[in-house]
Amino acid sequence: IPVDPFDLVIFGGTGDLAKRKIIPGLYRRFVAGQMPEDARIIGAARSELDNDGYRDFARKAIEKYVHAKNHDKDKVRDFLKCLSYFRIDALGQDGWKDLAKIIRKDVVQAFYFSVGPRLFGELAKRLHKYKIAGPDSRIVVEKPFGHDLESAKALNAELAEYFDETQIYRIDHYLGKETVQNLMAVRFANILFEPLWNSQYIDHIQITVSETVGVSGRGGYYDKSGAMRDMVQNHLMQLLCLIAMEPPAHFDPDSVRDEKLKVIRALDPVPAEDIVRGQYRAEGDQPSYIEDAENPDSRTESFLAMKVHIANWRWNGTPFYLRTGKRLRARKSEIAVVFKEPPHSIFEPQEGRRCNELIIHLQPNEGMDLRVTIKEPGPGGMRLMDVALDMSFAEALGEDAEDITDAYERLIMDVIRGNQTLFMRGDEVEAAWAWVDPIIQGWIDRGDRPKPYDAGSSGPEDALMLMHREGRRWREIT
Ligand code: BG6
Repeated sequence: IPVDPFDLVIFGGTGDLAKRKIIPGLYRRFVAGQMPEDARIIGAARSELDNDGYRDFARKAIEKYVHAKNHDKDKVRDFLKCLSYFRIDALGQDGWKDLAKIIRKDVVQAFYFSVGPRLFGELAKRLHKYKIAGPDSRIVVEKPFGHDLESAKALNAELAEYFDETQIYRIDHYLGKETVQNLMAVRFANILFEPLWNSQYIDHIQITVSETVGVSGRGGYYDKSGAMRDMVQNHLMQLLCLIAMEPPAHFDPDSVRDEKLKVIRALDPVPAEDIVRGQYRAEGDQPSYIEDAENPDSRTESFLAMKVHIANWRWNGTPFYLRTGKRLRARKSEIAVVFKEPPHSIFEPQEGRRCNELIIHLQPNEGMDLRVTIKEPGPGGMRLMDVALDMSFAEALGEDAEDITDAYERLIMDVIRGNQTLFMRGDEVEAAWAWVDPIIQGWIDRGDRPKPYDAGSSGPEDALMLMHREGRRWREIT
């Protein structure tokens, strides 16, 4: 079903995100018939470009970032007709009146701030001052949304001067991933899981977001952030919220976000012994973190593992283990819900047997599997084994993995539809920083240094100990 006609202005229209995600995503929605023919996408940036130059930029982005089977000359040509370019300086005053004239007043208006956060307020101010945006317009802002609680509050306050909260779409692209939404469907559309979804039946939960890439090329940004600010404060915490939240009364933006906020506010402070930070070493001709970050004294972590407690009735006694890092063994994001043993076993104890686990694979190969214990086939007596009831979404839906909607395309369409469910509310972001800030401050006060780890490993040894010391173990990163 096509969305309503819209004008979408992408500030930072020639940037990396526009090239890799926004334009390819919009093209895929166009091919899927979801973008109305009279939709307009206006790339806005400082570069000297004309409409043809911008279309050329977009064509190259599609060729590079959209799977070849979706390249269709006619479709690309028709899509490019929706695109134009507008040259503007976010900090200047020129051109804004002209932009106001271009934007149609009778369609959905969306402004994507695909720029650094220091420009958010400037853009918001100008959109308001030059009457480009109205009370129904939407603005989309990217992470990082602040660097700490204070800066996030300042950003929220700046945006709130010109826009109502219902107009602000703070992107956390993890919320747009297919499996992440499926998490809500699995939890709240089935009777099977919810009765067991608490500390009485769940031993612990592991959330892993492991990457093989390093930080080369973006060391300047990353070294000021580290895994905590770059991944945990947003993506991992959002995953944690969706796993841990109470069932919302309705599937609407505020009902869902109210429940997520309650989870964040219930997080206990994390003691130093429950956190392991790491930094990758050099490997062959691949540089170390220190070299990538070009900061020989860097104490920034490229790996983080931590044990987190949620202080409420449902989760008291069930730890959540979070782990994320760069240059690890494999690219893999998953959530593992590890159930307890049955209270009484009638079978012989068996070395290496695992408990029931529900594994939610976010990437690659989105899907879920439920590990259950069965009898090993054959005449060998009552020996038990684990099998996975496996559901790859691509397989189950008869889809090519390439056809699973990318997070960005889904989220942009949600902006046009005016659905904020998968976007972070201002108070959520602030609450997340309020929890993260004292942890980071603790590292600074204690002068903590991250532990070195081998590139291609699963992080520092101490991260394994975080679980081993309690008789638990991480799932392998493979
Ligand atoms: C971004 C982080 O938000 O998410 C990056 O800034 C990280 O450091 C990326 O690599 C991971 O996203 P994905 O979708 O590839 O898992």
